[in-house]
Formats: sequence, C-alpha cells, structure tokens
Amino acid sequence: MNLVEKTEKIFALTTPLYYVNGLPHIGSAYTTMAADAIARFQRLLGNQVLLVTGTDEHGQKIQRTAQTKNLEPQIFCDRVSAEFSSLWELLNIQYDRFIRTTDSRHEVIVKDFFKRVWDNGDIYLGEQKGWYCVSCEEFKEERDLLEEKRCPIHTNKEVEWRDEQNYFFKLSKYQEKLEHLYQHHPDFIQPESRRNEVISFVKQGLQDFSISRVNMDWGFGVPVDPKHTLYVWFDALLGYATALLDAKEEAGLEKALQKWWPISLHLIGKDILRFHAVYWPAMLMSAGLTLPQKVFAHGYLTKDGQKMGKSLGNTVDPIALVERYGSDAIRYYFLKEIEFGKDGDFNEVRFINVLNADLANDLGNLLNRTSNMVKKYCGGNLPAVTAEDIPVENLLKAIGLDLGSQVKVAYQDLAFDRGCEAVLALVRACNKFIDEQAPWSLYKQGQQDAVEKILYAVLESVRLSAYLLSPIIPDTSNKIYQQLGFEVNFNDQTQTAIAAPFAVHAQWGVLSSEQKLDKPQPVFKRIELPKND
Ligand code: MSP
Repeated sequence: MNLVEKTEKIFALTTPLYYVNGLPHIGSAYTTMAADAIARFQRLLGNQVLLVTGTDEHGQKIQRTAQTKNLEPQIFCDRVSAEFSSLWELLNIQYDRFIRTTDSRHEVIVKDFFKRVWDNGDIYLGEQKGWYCVSCEEFKEERDLLEEKRCPIHTNKEVEWRDEQNYFFKLSKYQEKLEHLYQHHPDFIQPESRRNEVISFVKQGLQDFSISRVNMDWGFGVPVDPKHTLYVWFDALLGYATALLDAKEEAGLEKALQKWWPISLHLIGKDILRFHAVYWPAMLMSAGLTLPQKVFAHGYLTKDGQKMGKSLGNTVDPIALVERYGSDAIRYYFLKEIEFGKDGDFNEVRFINVLNADLANDLGNLLNRTSNMVKKYCGGNLPAVTAEDIPVENLLKAIGLDLGSQVKVAYQDLAFDRGCEAVLALVRACNKFIDEQAPWSLYKQGQQDAVEKILYAVLESVRLSAYLLSPIIPDTSNKIYQQLGFEVNFNDQTQTAIAAPFAVHAQWGVLSSEQKLDKPQPVFKRIELPKND
C-alpha cells in the first residue's frame, strides 16, 4: 500500500482551495482558522510545518459568475482571490503557501499528472448523461434530488441535464484498493462517522467519473484532446501538489513532491469528502504517488439551521466580525464552541456571552486581580517561589502537571473544544482557589509565605493556560506572556518554537522570580451586548 508512516518532523497540511464565485464568508474562514491553529500547535512541538491554502478558480460556476459581472474570468478571479488572502491576514492566519489554480505553474503539474494516469490506461472517452449541479460542480444521482430537481446542498438551485462525450477516469478499477486502504488505515478518514459514510458509499460500487467538459473553456485543455476542458475538480485537487513548489521554482510534478509530500492532513468540510477520500486517493494510486495520511472532514456552520454558503446567500460577513470583535474572539468562538467534526450554529448573542465568560471574566480578570495582588502584597515583584515549593496536593499544581499532555492529545485529535475546555477548567479552578484561600485575609494575618505561594500558583497557571491557548488566541496569549515578563511573541512562530518550546512551556512551573511583571491591564475587553432598538 502506497501509504507511508512519516516521522513527526515534517507536517504539511491543507485547507480546501476555495471557489472564488463569491467573497469569503465565515464558513470558508472556519477551516482556515482551524488549519492555522493546528499549524501553530505543530510548530510549538518543534515540527517543520507547511500550511497550504488557496483558491480554486476554474470551472463553469466561476465562468458564469464572472459573466454576470461582465468581467473577464481572470480579472474576476484576481479580485476575489485577493479578498481571501486579505481575510486570512485579518484573522491572523499565517499560511505558508497560497496557491491559485490559474497559476501557470499549475498547468505543468496537471499535465504531468494527467500523463501518468493516461499512461496507466485509466482515462477513456465515454458518454456522460446525468444531472449536474453547477454550484457543487458535481453530477448528482436522481434519487438524491429534492423536488423540482433541486440540489440537496444548494437547495435553491436546480440541477442541469447533461448529455455529452467526456473523458472518464476509471475509478471503478480502484474499488478494492480503496476498501483495503480504509480497512488498514482506520485513521485515514476522520471522524469515525465520516469514515463509515465513505465506506458505505464505496461498498455500493464505484462508478467511473468524467474528468472533462465540453462547451466550457474556463480551465486547462485536456492534454490529449484540447477540444475538452479538464473538469475543475481534477485540476483543483492537484493544486495541493503545485502549492508545494518553492517560490520561483521551476514547475514539475516530481520536483513539487520532493520535500513536503505526502500531505499529513487534508482539512475539509463534509460536503467535499468524496472528492478527497475516494476520488483523490484513487487518482494518486493511478499516478503511482503516495497517499495523504489523513483527511478530516468538519461539519457545517449553519445560520438558522441552514448551511451558510455563497450559493444560498445566507452568510455571516467575517470582515465585519473581525472589525467588531478582533481575530482572537472569532477564532476562539468557532474552535472552542463547536465540536470539530459536528455542525455548529452561529448566534451573535451566544458569541458575546461565551467570550465575556471565558476570556474577559474567567481568564482576563483572573490575571488582572492576581497581578494587582502581587502589586499590593509583594511590591509588584513575582514572589521568590518555585514550583518545588508548592506541594503536589495543591489543586492547581495537580491539574497543571497533567494539563500539557492532556491538551496535546486533544489538539492532536483536532478536538479544539476539548483542549480549550481542559484549559478553562484550570482557569476556573484558579478563580475558586483564590476565593477560598482569600490571600487578602492571609496577608492581614501576616502569612506572607502562604500569600506568595498562592499568587505564584495562580500566575503560573495563567501562564500555562495562555501558552496552551496560544494556537487559538495568539494575540491574547501574547498580552498575558508580556504582562508576565516574557519576551515571547506567539505570532513569530520560529522565535516561539525556540524561546518557548512545548516540551518546556507546556509544563507547570516555568514562571520564576526573575520575571519582571508588566503593569496590570485587561488582556481581553468585555464586549457589550448590542442594544435592541
Ligand atoms: N473548490 C472546492 C474545494 C476544492 S479543494 C481542492 C470547494 N470550494 S468551496 O469554496 O465551495 O468550499 C470550500 C470549503 O469551505 C469546503 O470545505 C466547505 O465545506 C467549506 N464551507 C463552505 N461553507 C461552509 C459552511 N457553511 N460551514 C463550514 N464550512 C463551509 O468546495
């Protein structure tokens, strides 16, 4: 089987390449925020990471949208693609590669790949009849359609009848190999429910799929027959390979795959699972290339229970959200509040409540009140206490000693909600601990030693929490680290991996009296609920 175990050292991950038929919305941002959090976490572990994202610019959907705007498709694509990269920047997403499928180097990769599959005898000319959803860029089974021949995903769009000659890829030939893959690499498709879905789909019997279109020219010509245009998905999936070329490196499939291949993780939404977990591995098998290690499909973000999407026109504008609340708030809400893999609804009031409760009150206030007590009871200097001075029976130490490994497992499982909840449990325990221990009374009783130990234990727990949340809320973690006197910048990931490696900073007990505390100030401002008119 063409799937190798890689060492932990290199980690290449991808987001889908987004269609440019409309502006990015929060649904497209969701995958990319998650990918960025994973990349940041992998970097903290000391791994070499490559985060690939980009835009999918060919196909009928894009061509038609450009037409309705009276724009040349390329000009239209240039404009919309730029909106994606600038949104990623607003959301503090530090991608390494941004691939556009209209990149001229991409055509070379697609040709190289096509040749391999062609030479392997897996492409033939055939008759394609069926219902096509342009929004999905996919043929649909008649039995899956809604009333009036509407698409089950794009419920306001009617599918179109097609009867034409197309080139086909021999997917059916790979049925057994794919089944073998799913069986022997149970982690290949995650989560489990999605894996089962794919397995039962494949069990029904795979049909060859068409990889070319006629009467449509926005795409690459089929290398053996330029009257046909390559099907957008055949071209788009290969964007993952083109993206691996270094800047200005000459294009060529083998060259592209030299350093970062195979991909460690394809992060996708559940609507494009078949393409990634069935078509793509079969195409790679045909071309004799190593398969990716994992495909993880997350759920939909819904608004009022309906999938949010460009085609349905019910999206939440991420730019307005960032402007109002900042990038950490958005990253935190979507990654902490929604179980990754399940659907999740967006609701602004809930959004505000969660941020106020977790980041402004529980975490932010905790740091603020503790730093103020250090000022009052310890002259503003961190007490000369070390982790060894705190007994293991101390609840915060007990939780803290285990937390790093717990959160590591959660993030490795892509269970961001579980990771954040574990951190929040420590934060809440800190608040309770202060209330119960009442250092203000101990201070009055002259129990300086006890006061110092309490304040140390709390501040160290806040530090650890900030560190473990840094892949998700890097700006807030930066503020906390700076207040605690560290020169660590979580947005400079190379520096952080060296200055604050996971092996050290994910432990409880890093804080020392050498640190010079900065002036206490709120790290996360409370958000006011919008007033109802
Ligand atoms: N162009 C293809 C992907 C090609 S990858 C080689 C595509 N593009 S898309 O823009 O329509 O969707 C990209 C991703 O955004 C998909 O993973 C999709 O699931 C995700 N989302 C689009 N709307 C979404 C929500 N409402 N919620 C969560 N994710 C959503 O498909």
